[in-house]
Amino acid sequence: MSSFGIHQIGAVRIEKEACYIEIYQTYTPGLRHIENFSHVYVLWWISMRDNPKDRSNMLATPPRLTKPVETGVFSSRSPARPNPIGLTKVKLLKVENNRLYIDRIDAIDGTPVLDVKPYLPGDSIPVDEIKLPEWFEHLKNK
Ligand SMILES: C[S@@+](CC[C@H](N)C(=O)[O-])C[C@H]1O[C@@H](n2cnc3c(N)ncnc32)[C@H](O)[C@@H]1O
Repeated sequence: MSSFGIHQIGAVRIEKEACYIEIYQTYTPGLRHIENFSHVYVLWWISMRDNPKDRSNMLATPPRLTKPVETGVFSSRSPARPNPIGLTKVKLLKVENNRLYIDRIDAIDGTPVLDVKPYLPGDSIPVDEIKLPEWFEHLKNK
């Protein structure tokens, strides 16, 4: 098995009135033209789950199901997983210098950010083509 190096490019900042991704100075040239996109993907490190126990986890029980199901970690969005990488699609509200102001993100303040990528029309899939296990069927209309 191989290991790969990843560099933190910034951090999630959650403030009372605003939520933004702070990009570190070395990486700010990479933000050119980002303001022309409405949505971006943020890849982040689920830092508080970066420990041997959580990283050896192979099963997960998705929360808030009426009938709980234990499923494989790769069939879930569980934060306890071999590589604690979080992926969130966010709405880009404005860009000010090295700050990407966003509508919301499910990462806590200070969370390391690994990458930002634009959301493109080809990423979307018509709802009627999406297959889901029955315990996630209720998400289809969300
Ligand atoms: C279930 S994970 C899913 C993350 C992402 N949307 C994904 O699908 O990869 C989201 C949860 O991780 C937790 N979380 C957020 N930031 C974290 C961090 N830095 N370390 C550990 N847990 C974190 C929060 O409880 C949040 O609700």
